[in-house]
Amino acid sequence: MCGIIGYIGKKQNVIDLLINGLKSLEYRGYDSAGIAYLEQNEIKVIKAQGKISSLEEKTKNLNVLSTLGIGHTRWATHGKPSNENSHPHRVGRVTLIHNGIIENYQELKEMLIKEGYTFQSQTDTEVVAGLLDFYLKQENDKLTILHQVISMLKGSFALGIIFDDDFNHLYAVRKDSPLILGTTSNMNFIASDIPAIIKYTNQYILLENKDIAILSEEKIQVFDENLNPVNREKLTSPVSIEEAKKAPYEHFMLKEIMEEATLLEKLYSLYGFGTPSFLEKLPDLSKYEKIHIVACGSAMYAGLVGKYMMEEYADIETNVYVASEYRYQKNFYSNKTLVIFISQSGETADTIACLRLVKQLGIDTLALVNVYGSTIAREVDKVLYLYAGVEIAVATTKAYLLQVALLSMLVYHTALAKDLLSEEEQEKIKMSILELPKILDELLKKGITYEASQILSKASDVFFLGRGIDYATSLEGSLKLKEISYLHSEAYQAGELKHGTISLIEQGMPVVTIITDERLIDKTLSNMKEVKSRGAYNILITTKDWISSDDSVDLAITVKEVNPLVQSLLIVPILQLLAYHTAKIKGCDIDQPRNLAKSVTVE
Ligand code: F6R
Repeated sequence: MCGIIGYIGKKQNVIDLLINGLKSLEYRGYDSAGIAYLEQNEIKVIKAQGKISSLEEKTKNLNVLSTLGIGHTRWATHGKPSNENSHPHRVGRVTLIHNGIIENYQELKEMLIKEGYTFQSQTDTEVVAGLLDFYLKQENDKLTILHQVISMLKGSFALGIIFDDDFNHLYAVRKDSPLILGTTSNMNFIASDIPAIIKYTNQYILLENKDIAILSEEKIQVFDENLNPVNREKLTSPVSIEEAKKAPYEHFMLKEIMEEATLLEKLYSLYGFGTPSFLEKLPDLSKYEKIHIVACGSAMYAGLVGKYMMEEYADIETNVYVASEYRYQKNFYSNKTLVIFISQSGETADTIACLRLVKQLGIDTLALVNVYGSTIAREVDKVLYLYAGVEIAVATTKAYLLQVALLSMLVYHTALAKDLLSEEEQEKIKMSILELPKILDELLKKGITYEASQILSKASDVFFLGRGIDYATSLEGSLKLKEISYLHSEAYQAGELKHGTISLIEQGMPVVTIITDERLIDKTLSNMKEVKSRGAYNILITTKDWISSDDSVDLAITVKEVNPLVQSLLIVPILQLLAYHTAKIKGCDIDQPRNLAKSVTVE
C-alpha cells in the first residue's frame, strides 16, 4: 500500500533523498509517485503516474538543495492512478501525503464545497488537506488544528504535512496506518518503514494511535491524543543497509528464498527449540480446547498447515479463518479458546480488526508476527516474532516458511505439555528438526529443475493437488504461482476434483501434485491417474522416490524425507522456486507484481 517518506534537516539534495527513499518502499506496491519540497521559500510539487522511474525522468535535471520535503507512492483506492490523484496534495497553504482511507471523506468534501473549496482529484486525501487549510484560516496553532481535524476523520491515516507558514517544521499524525519517525542530531524523518531511511539512521520512534509529531531539524516532539507531550521510546532497528539490497541476486524474492535455511536455524536457536525456554514465551497451550487461527493470504495458508499439525499431534480442534470474513460471521468461543493471529507485516487491516474484536470479548490471543513493534505485535496478549528480517519482495516466501516453522514448534511443545509424545517420538522430532536447516540449505543450493517451470510457463491454467497437509501446502504453491507469474491456478483437495472441477482438465494442462503423507499415497496416485487419462501433464513433488516411476507421473521432483511435522518446510521452497522460475521465464515483474501491495492496510 502507499509509501511515505518525509525529511527535515540540514540542506541537501532532497529530491534524491526522497526518490531513493521511495524506491526502497517500492515493495509496498504502488501505481504512481510524487514529491513536494521547499525551494526558495515555496513548495514545489512533482508527480508522475506509473513507476518511480517516470518521476525520476521528470526530476532528472533538477538539483535542489533543501531542508524540507515529502514523498509518496500511491496504491490507488479512491480514483484511478493518475497525476491528479497522486500525492502530495496541495490545498491552499497545506501540502500533504497520506496512507490509509478516510471513510467519511464524502461528507467532509460536501462541507468544504459549501465553504467554497474546489477539488482537483477524486481522492479522500485531498479532502484532509482542504480541511486543514479551512481550520488554518481560523486558528494558527498547528497542534490545535491537527487535533480538531483528527477528531473529524473516520478511517485510517498516516499523514505527513507541510504548512506554508511554518517551513521549520514537518508534521505527522497516525491512526491505524504504519508510520515511524527516524531521528539523528541534525536530520529527522517520517517513513512508512525503516528501509526508506536506513541510509541515514537506524534510530526510530513508533507513534501510538492518534499521536501528533512535530519534527524540526534538531528535535522531534510527540503529543498524545489529549495533546499531552509524551516521550515515545527510541528504538534501534536491526535492519542493515545490506539487507535492503538484493545483490548478488537478481530479485529480492530469490534472495529471500535463499535466506530460508539460515533463518530457520536462527529461529530454532533463538527460541531454544525443545528446551523449557521456548515454553516461557507462551501461554499454557495445553489448557485450550479450541484454537482459531485468523489471517489473510499466505499467512492464512500457513495457519492451515498449522491446523493439520495441531489436530494431529496436539489433539486440539483448530479452525482457520480468513480475517475479512471472521469479523462478520458468528464465532463460537469459550474460556478455553485461544485465537492465533498470523501476519508478516503486523499491519494487515482485516487481521487487526479481528484482533480488536476478539480482545474486546476477553478471549486469549497470541500472534506470530514478523515486523517488530507493528500494530498486531503491540496489541496482542502474547507475540512470537518470526525474526525473518525485512521481506521486500511483495510475494512472501521466507516469512511464510518461518510462520509454518514456528507453528510446528508450538504444536510440538503443546503435544509435549499434554504428554502426547513418547520419548522415542520426541527424540525423532528433535533429531529431524535439528538437521533440517542443513538439509534445506542443500536443497536451496541444488535449486530445482527448470523443466517444470518451462512446462508451467507455457500453460494458461494449472492445478495443484494434495490431500491433508499436502493440500494446505499446495494452496500456497498455487497462490505463489498466480501472484507472480499471472497464471491462473487452483489448488484442490486431490479427491474432490472429480466432483465437478475435473471437467476443466484438458490435453497438456499441468497438474502439480504433492505427496508426502505415507497413508495417502495410493489414493492420491489414483487421482493423478484420473487427470492423466484426461490429458493432464503430471508434475509430482514427493518424498517417496519409488512413486516417481509410476506411469501417471510425467515429471517428478523428489525431496528428502524428514519427520512429517516439518516435512512441508522442504516442500514449500520447491513451490516458491517453481513459481519464481516460471515468472522469470515469462518475463514478469517478480518483486512487484501488478495490482499487489506488500502490506494491505485497507479493509
Ligand atoms: C502473498 C502475500 C499475501 C500476504 C497477506 C497477509 O504472497 O504476501 O497473501 O500473506 O496479504 O499479509 P500479512 O502477513 O502481512 O498480514
